[in-house]
Amino acid sequence: MKNKKTKKLLLAVSLILFLVALLSGGIDAAPKEKKAAPKAKAADVKAWDCAGCHKDKKVLPDSHVPIKEMPYEGCLVCHIPGEKNAGTLRTKIPGSHLHALKGVKCAQCHGKVKKPAPVEMSKCVACHGETAKLAEKTAKVKPQNPHESPHYGTSADCNLCHHQHAKSENLCAQCHKFDYIVP
Ligand code: HEC
Ligand code: HEC
Ligand code: HEC
Ligand code: HEC
Ligand code: HEC
Ligand code: HEC
Repeated sequence: MKNKKTKKLLLAVSLILFLVALLSGGIDAAPKEKKAAPKAKAADVKAWDCAGCHKDKKVLPDSHVPIKEMPYEGCLVCHIPGEKNAGTLRTKIPGSHLHALKGVKCAQCHGKVKKPAPVEMSKCVACHGETAKLAEKTAKVKPQNPHESPHYGTSADCNLCHHQHAKSENLCAQCHKFDYIVP
C-alpha cells in the first residue's frame, strides 16, 4: 500500500517538475532550430593555445616545438638572448600574452567587467611594487635606467612604455638614443 502511494506521489512530482521545465524553456517541446555551440570566451582560452584565439593565422613558426600546457618558465628554456638560442620573447608577443602565460587573468587587471576599460597605473604598481623599488631592479640597465630619469623621477606612467595589447614603446627614444627592448 505504502509503495503505491509513494509511486503516485513521485509521478505527480515529476509531472510538475516536467511542466516547470517546459514553461521555463528547459526542455524543447517542439524541436526548434539547432542552437549554435556556445562560443568559447577569449578569457577562457589557455595562454599557450595560440590557435584557440588566432584561429588560422600563423603566430608560431611551423617547426616550433609543441607548447601545450607549457608555462612561461618553459618558454624561457629556449627564449633567452644569445647565439643559438631562440632570443627573448620580449616584444615578440604582446604584454597581455606574457601576463597570461604567467597566469595573470584579464580580470586581475580589468576587474570582472563585461566591457574592459584601459587600466590605471595603480593596478600595475599593486602587483609590481613601489616604483622606487622597481627602479632598483633595473638600475644596471644600459645606457640608462628606464625606470628613473631627471624628468619623471621613478613615476613615469607604465602605460607610456609597456602596452598590453599592442607593441610596447620606448618613450625616452623620442629624445634620446636609448635602444631599449621594452617588454
Ligand atoms: C625547445 C625550444 C623552444 C621552446 C620551449 C619555446 N620556443 Fe618559441 N621558438 C623557438 C625557436 C627555435 C624559434 C624560432 C626563432 C627564430 O629563428 O625566429 C621560436 C619562435 C617563437 C616565436 C616567433 C618569434 C618571432 O621572432 O616572431 C614565438 C612567438 C614563440 N617562439 C613563442 C614561444 C612561447 C610562447 C613559448 C612557451 C609557451 C615558446 N615559444 C617555447 C624555440 C622554442
Ligand atoms: C597586465 C594588465 C592587463 C591584462 C592582463 C589584460 N589587459 Fe586589457 N588592457 C590593459 C591596459 C593597460 C589597457 C589600455 C591599453 C593599453 O595600454 O594596452 C587595456 C585595454 C583593453 C581593452 C580596450 C579597452 C579600451 O576601452 O580601450 C580591452 C577590450 C581589453 N584590454 C581586454 C583584455 C582581455 C580580454 C584580457 C585577457 C585576455 C586583457 N585585456 C588582459 C591591461 C591589461
Ligand atoms: C595581478 C598581478 C599583476 C598585475 C595587475 C600586473 N602585472 Fe605585470 N607581471 C605580473 C607577473 C606575475 C609577471 C611575471 C614576471 C614576474 O614574476 O615578475 C609580470 C610581468 C610584467 C612585465 C615583465 C615582462 C618581462 O618580459 O619580464 C612587465 C613589463 C609588466 N608585467 C608590466 C605590467 C604593467 C604595465 C601592468 C599594468 C598595466 C602590470 N604589469 C600589471 C603580474 C602583474
Ligand atoms: C620609459 C619607459 C618605461 C616606463 C615608463 C616603465 N618601464 Fe618597465 N621597463 C622598461 C624597459 C626598457 C624595461 C627592460 C629593461 C631591461 O632591459 O631589462 C622594463 C622592464 C620592466 C620589468 C621587468 C623588470 C625585470 O626584473 O627585468 C617590469 C616588471 C616593468 N618594467 C614594469 C613596469 C611598471 C610596473 C611600470 C610603471 C610603474 C614601468 N615598468 C614603467 C621601460 C619602461
Ligand atoms: C586569449 C586569446 C589569445 C591567445 C590564447 C593568444 N593570443 Fe595572441 N593575440 C590575441 C589578441 C586579441 C591580439 C591583439 C592584441 C591584444 O589584444 O593583445 C593578439 C596579438 C598577438 C600578436 C601581435 C601581432 C598580431 O598578430 O596582432 C602576436 C605575435 C601574438 N598574438 C602571438 C600569440 C602567440 C604566439 C600565442 C600563443 C602562445 C597567442 N598569441 C595566444 C589573442 C590571443
Ligand atoms: C621630450 C624629450 C625627452 C624625453 C621624452 C626624455 N628626455 Fe631625457 N633629456 C631631455 C633633454 C633635452 C635633456 C638635457 C637637458 C636636461 O638636462 O634637462 C635630457 C637629459 C636626460 C638625462 C641627464 C643626463 C644626460 O644624458 O644628459 C637623463 C639621465 C635622461 N634625460 C634620461 C631620460 C630617460 C630615462 C627618459 C625616458 C624615461 C627620458 N630622458 C626622456 C629630453 C628628453
